[in-house]
Amino acid sequence: MKKLLTLILLVLPLLCFSDSTSTRPPVTIVIFGSTGDLTARKLYPAIYNLALEEKELNENFSLVGVGRRNLSAEELHDSVYASLDKFSRLKPSDKSWNLFKQHLVYHKADFSLESDYLGLKELLAQQDQKAGRPGNTIFYLATDSSYFPTIIHNLYKHGLVDQNGGSKFSRVIIEKPFGEDLDSAIELQAFISQFLDEEQIFRMDHYLGKEGMLTLMKFRFQDAKFESLFDQKYVSNIQMTLSETIGISTRANFYEKTGHLRDVVQNHAMQLLAIATMEPPLGLKAEEILKEKAKVLYAIRPYSSEEIAQYVIRGQYSSGIIEGKPVIGYRDENGVPKTSQIETFVQAKMFIDNERWSGVPIYIKSGKRLPQQTTQVTFNLKDNPFQIDAITIAIQPKSQILITRGEITEAYEIQASPCFAGREAYENLILATVQGDQSHFVTMDEVLSTWSLLTPVLKHWSTTPENVLLYEAGQWGPEAAEQQLQQDGFEWKVLNSKNK
Ligand SMILES: NC(=O)c1ccc[n+]([C@@H]2O[C@H](COP(=O)([O-])OP(=O)(O)OC[C@H]3O[C@@H](n4cnc5c(N)ncnc54)[C@H](OP(=O)(O)O)[C@@H]3O)[C@@H](O)[C@H]2O)c1
Repeated sequence: MKKLLTLILLVLPLLCFSDSTSTRPPVTIVIFGSTGDLTARKLYPAIYNLALEEKELNENFSLVGVGRRNLSAEELHDSVYASLDKFSRLKPSDKSWNLFKQHLVYHKADFSLESDYLGLKELLAQQDQKAGRPGNTIFYLATDSSYFPTIIHNLYKHGLVDQNGGSKFSRVIIEKPFGEDLDSAIELQAFISQFLDEEQIFRMDHYLGKEGMLTLMKFRFQDAKFESLFDQKYVSNIQMTLSETIGISTRANFYEKTGHLRDVVQNHAMQLLAIATMEPPLGLKAEEILKEKAKVLYAIRPYSSEEIAQYVIRGQYSSGIIEGKPVIGYRDENGVPKTSQIETFVQAKMFIDNERWSGVPIYIKSGKRLPQQTTQVTFNLKDNPFQIDAITIAIQPKSQILITRGEITEAYEIQASPCFAGREAYENLILATVQGDQSHFVTMDEVLSTWSLLTPVLKHWSTTPENVLLYEAGQWGPEAAEQQLQQDGFEWKVLNSKNK
């Protein structure tokens, strides 16, 4: 068995997700929302690492932050340095920081004020002319989703996102969630597609930039013998865990409006499900992979109203113990109403109505303040030629494959893929945008299929808000979650390398 796995893992790194070749065009990256949380924690560090440490960006790049507050050059430098110092994968040396800061610019603007886009246009034109850049621009919308239509409309009105741009490109990265239900996603797409071609739209789900997601797909399809196990003949059930130990921190406003189903399940969990269960693509071109992902998402059986109550469990954390320390409950978090019925936990049972997965229950468990931080998918196996009980593909905290036989679980480390090369998800996805590679982004088909499945759940919940179940922080969700599996004759398994 071990020999077989070694063989498989040795050939894995030869295969990349897409066939796009690496290019390093000069580019300006404009971040709308540059004084926000996402930019500080993820975007400045990602661009720093790509540009200065990995040398993946053309040296002739510019990074323009857009925000509504006044920031002097010194304040900008202080805040970006603080973000790199705290959050960057690789910390800047004096030399690399001095180089990086020369590329930083700040533009004060209110997203809703048309006149502020004129100023941005002039700034970008002046910068490009001075630096001899052709005008390639990536606009990263790191803002509340309510601003997406306004910003895109204004970019278009001011000629900043030319459709069919000819010798230069303009691309827009849109943060998740794309819409807050099926209707709003359709409306958002109808609106923005007046101003952007599909090739310009990069719908972000940072899970798609994680090395483990690539590993999962390659592991499933690389070896014909192994691939034969991923089938209703050998798989008794599939369990997906996307768990966090953290609470909502300072994001009460966002969370109260969004909830866990919209924040994690509709995007990250459904992407994981798609990659774990899709049919082998005909080839490795972006469109071939994306087509298979959308196909399997459309094949998920829609819920009847009775099934929603039975299959989809929602919970909210109360006070408890996490990693040995007491933590407060959700309703005691700053900014959360004492009567809040917003879910911080979801467990959903699903079926895929296709030949491969017919009759195999798939369970997704995802939530905050759970005992362990992990993302993993486990295929529990029944009678099979390799006498394996379970195969787990861990996406985070470590990209690993775990093989369970009886009481023994063996962990196999995954070598860094040459495509993602040990980089963070946001680095991979910003680089893919620069290269014009949409294979790691979410298509409209995926948005529509996932919202079609989950919007009825949201509607049902809105008529029964009182049904949210409390769970103690540090437990794996409300009791009903464990009972759901027990009733089906299964138990939840979460593995990590300690189970070796
Ligand atoms: N934070 C995360 O971990 C995370 C993860 C995944 C996805 N996302 C998504 O990323 C987006 C941004 O999230 P975030 O947490 O970074 O939000 P945030 O911390 O609230 O930042 C929002 C940014 O937008 C600016 N802004 C708001 N209204 C503005 C206006 N009218 N004119 C100009 N600037 C304005 C804010 O400026 P001020 O600083 O002046 O208020 C701030 O820079 C959201 O769509 C979220 O769903 C976030």
